[in-house]
Amino acid sequence: MKRIKIFDTTLRDGEQSPGCSMNLNEKLKVARQLARLKVDIIEAGFAVSSPGDFESVQRIAQEVRGVGVASLARCVQKDIDAAAEALREAERPRIHVFLATSPLHMQYKLHMSPEQVLESIQKSVAYARNLCADVEFSAEDATRSDRDFLCQALSLAIAAGAATVNIPDTVGYSTPSEMQELVRYVLAHTDGIERACLSVHCHDDLGMGVANSLAAVAAGAGQVECTVNGIGERAGNASLEEIVMALKTRSDRYGAETGIETRQIFRTCRHLARIIGQPIAPNKAIVGANAFAHESGIHQHGVLQNRETYEIMSPEDVGITENNIVLGKHSGRHAFLERLSALGYRLPEEVAEGLFSQFKALCDKKKYITDFDVEALVDSISQTKKVFELENYKIISGNQEDSMAMITMKVYGERKTAAAQAGGPVLAAYQAIDSLSPIQMKLEDYSINSVTEGQDALGQVTVKVSAGGSTVSGRGLSFDILESSVLAYIHALNKLLSLGVAQ
Ligand code: KIV
Ligand code: ZN
Repeated sequence: MKRIKIFDTTLRDGEQSPGCSMNLNEKLKVARQLARLKVDIIEAGFAVSSPGDFESVQRIAQEVRGVGVASLARCVQKDIDAAAEALREAERPRIHVFLATSPLHMQYKLHMSPEQVLESIQKSVAYARNLCADVEFSAEDATRSDRDFLCQALSLAIAAGAATVNIPDTVGYSTPSEMQELVRYVLAHTDGIERACLSVHCHDDLGMGVANSLAAVAAGAGQVECTVNGIGERAGNASLEEIVMALKTRSDRYGAETGIETRQIFRTCRHLARIIGQPIAPNKAIVGANAFAHESGIHQHGVLQNRETYEIMSPEDVGITENNIVLGKHSGRHAFLERLSALGYRLPEEVAEGLFSQFKALCDKKKYITDFDVEALVDSISQTKKVFELENYKIISGNQEDSMAMITMKVYGERKTAAAQAGGPVLAAYQAIDSLSPIQMKLEDYSINSVTEGQDALGQVTVKVSAGGSTVSGRGLSFDILESSVLAYIHALNKLLSLGVAQ
């Protein structure tokens, strides 16, 4: 079996796509889960692009262990310096430099001649290699580049010290057979490729990101770059969970394996979906709610006789277990803390205590608490400073007249109450909060999802709001969806205030 490296770019290529931005704590949570999933490399960000990105790369490099951590950099000295500095304390740092090699990008985007591009690649990779033992070079828009020029660029990068060379299908243009031919061509015509790892990075514009990545593996690629839930620019990147499970389920065809702890897949995908507030489609391969559901009588009958009749992989393999009732009203602190630990959470004592109080409050409203509920509680912990804190609310709503909301909050430690009237209950609540807020927020998006199953499911609301040029997401979790809505809006408000957004 050939060992394929999984390079996860959820926190870089994924995070830079609309609606997927995360704050530092959210990125750290995702990075820790990626380490549990045992990806080989986490691309933590693009250090030079903003102070926030620099800090995320740095903190992930300092705190996440057992995994490589990479930062992206253009072929520019200050980018490479920033990447090296942010990665200084990483266990296994990698600088990932890139430059486009297609005629279109060289002429219209870079305004550089092919000779200048080659020179820049050579210099930048050598410069990065002086600062970091592990350097990757990506030839952006590789699939639309001249093949011989591409091989020349990759040969130069290897000679300058790149241990990995990557051929991105930046605009998701390739087809699987074309990708297969390209990988074979590069392997046959690139000097020094036998001592480097050939990687691919496929976007999903034509829905072929995963197929192209698999075709590349079949042709000899040793690394694939991908994202959890396939998030990423435009139509997204190739999905990590689909590539990993295809390689595992069809190892007979691919003769390849990854180091991924597949039983962490479901949890990783749900975790990310909750953080960015983008639910997983029910029919999503591998992790959608219906991926292992058998609705038709014929299928159910077959599965009952022998699961393999309609199941090509087992739900347990991707970490989907029976959503067992694990805790309830009579469960004590010890049982709750044990459950947290069994789910893999190591939380500071005061955080776990806070969660236990929330758990008890939830037990008053919900009879049985499942693992999903516990995970949702952990995900709802916000480390944003609470300038605004909800004390209580009253909302009256009906179909004949306007809704009324009265909200009482602690604002900078002082108790304040505001009321508003509007066409709907959520709008009325948000207007009441607005009247106490020092900043004027614009609600860009609102979504609501049930986190668990059944009539007493927890509802999570995610909002996107903007003010003063910043856009943030806020999340609220409660048994009562109006409370979730209020909490989400206040969470976003606190985030904006912690970013220093002022009127
Ligand atoms: O899609 C792309 O070309 C990229 C590179 C920066 C690797 O994301
Ligand atoms: Zn990309």
